[in-house]
Amino acid sequence: MKTIKLLSVRLGGKMEKSELQKIELDAIVKFSTDNIVITDGNGIVLRASPNSLSIYGTDSSSLIGKSVFELEKSNIFSPSVTIEVLKQRKQVQIMQNTTTRHTVMATGIPVFDEFGEIIRVISFSHDLTEIQNLKEDYEELSTKMAKYQSEIQQLREKELSMENIVFQSKSMQKIWQLIQRIAKTDASVVFLGESGVGKNIFAQSLHKESLRKEEAFIEVNCGAIPESLFESEMFGFEAGSFTGANNKGKPGLIELADKGTLFLDEIGELPLSVQAKLLKVLQEKKITRVGGVKSKNIDFRLIASTNQDLEKMVKQGKFRQDLFYRLNVITIIIPPLRERKEDIVTLSHFYLNKFNEKYKTNKFFHPTTIHELVSFDWPGNVRELQNMIERLVITSEGKTILPDSLPFYFQNAHPETLDSLHIDELKERGKTLKEVLEEVEIRWLKRASRQCKTTYEMAAYLGLNQSNVVRKLKKYKINEKTH
Ligand SMILES: Nc1ncnc2c1ncn2[C@@H]1O[C@H](COP(=O)(O)OP(=O)(O)OP(=O)(O)O)[C@@H](O)[C@H]1O
Ligand SMILES: [Mg+2]
Repeated sequence: MKTIKLLSVRLGGKMEKSELQKIELDAIVKFSTDNIVITDGNGIVLRASPNSLSIYGTDSSSLIGKSVFELEKSNIFSPSVTIEVLKQRKQVQIMQNTTTRHTVMATGIPVFDEFGEIIRVISFSHDLTEIQNLKEDYEELSTKMAKYQSEIQQLREKELSMENIVFQSKSMQKIWQLIQRIAKTDASVVFLGESGVGKNIFAQSLHKESLRKEEAFIEVNCGAIPESLFESEMFGFEAGSFTGANNKGKPGLIELADKGTLFLDEIGELPLSVQAKLLKVLQEKKITRVGGVKSKNIDFRLIASTNQDLEKMVKQGKFRQDLFYRLNVITIIIPPLRERKEDIVTLSHFYLNKFNEKYKTNKFFHPTTIHELVSFDWPGNVRELQNMIERLVITSEGKTILPDSLPFYFQNAHPETLDSLHIDELKERGKTLKEVLEEVEIRWLKRASRQCKTTYEMAAYLGLNQSNVVRKLKKYKINEKTH
């Protein structure tokens, strides 16, 4: 704290009034954060604040006695506000750029005597450097923001484009129709389904189809936020709420979703304490940052998803019942792939094209490979299928992706009895007789291959001659036996 030593002079009754006024004026000039310069009517400096050195690059004692005309010529006052006041005979305000690279707003005021002559000019110079810097930073940030916004928009459009979603099955078509019907409302939606069925991608598509599509889609993976950080991440925090690097305050994810959509992925992982607060936000449509007192209105649409059984969690006391009802306005259950086999074919071709493009290949599936893919149960659903197709495109030899490129668990995943080849199903899938016969041949060969040790044994088992067996095994790339 600055102490005004001058005023510590004993103010006895004997002190002259003019002496006291001088003390006061000295204190004002010395301690003012604005730079003060006082000149006479000819522009000769009589007084100058000590901060002249930091603002104008010249200390006050070097200014005193000099003419402002001289100081302007040597660029110390550039331009001089006092000169303008002397010319215009009225209060003047100008901006100056000083030799110390400060931006200053100088206000000059004339003081007249009883005859209308200027006897003093007082100028106050307010340093705007910090504000100027802030303004420049702000402008730079605004430009960057505009750039990022357009990039985000482009990415969003790409990411959320419907070209990324394919389906064929009746069940998914129904879900898609439902999504389109509810998208324009603000109803909360919960997506349920096993891992990898497409909960995220459909939640994104719901946002894309909604009236909020131009606004943010904030995805929060509740399973990935440590419990201790949940509140501050979701609700944000005010400056000074925590010690350490992030002391500046930060908006929470809910605040970022304002006007847009908040997608709480894996909502079953939300700690109970946060569930209570989230419910409050949903009811009041207001948030208060951690450590803050002011609340802010927030308008967002909530989508949630989980592969857990929320109802069971409610019974076990792990999920709040009131929040469950609040969220559960519309529930969309995405069925696993094994319950919508048509989608396997469509998705396999979709991803084949995608990865052919990515790896600049031109591969295609052998009909039997497709059949194997359709017969598989896909515990990891679309995600697993997507990874599998990528692997097949990369690792299979030649242009045709043959069934033996599939991992071993595929070949054992289902009993290859001929009964499992339903003619109607094959017909529906547009198989030719030749393709069906090939499939039968492959299956029979594989079964023989598993049961026999040599190709001679296989020949006997299949009723073929041995060289025929070897040729067929080669043709279909089935593991060859020792002779
Ligand atoms: N119908 C579809 N068309 C195209 N790709 C899909 C489809 N469904 C899912 N996918 C893709 O499958 C992958 C898994 O989907 P997503 O992440 O949406 O699954 P999820 O149900 O959220 O899984 P988890 O429960 O593990 O989070 C993603 O790469 C997604 O793009
Ligand atoms: Mg997900």
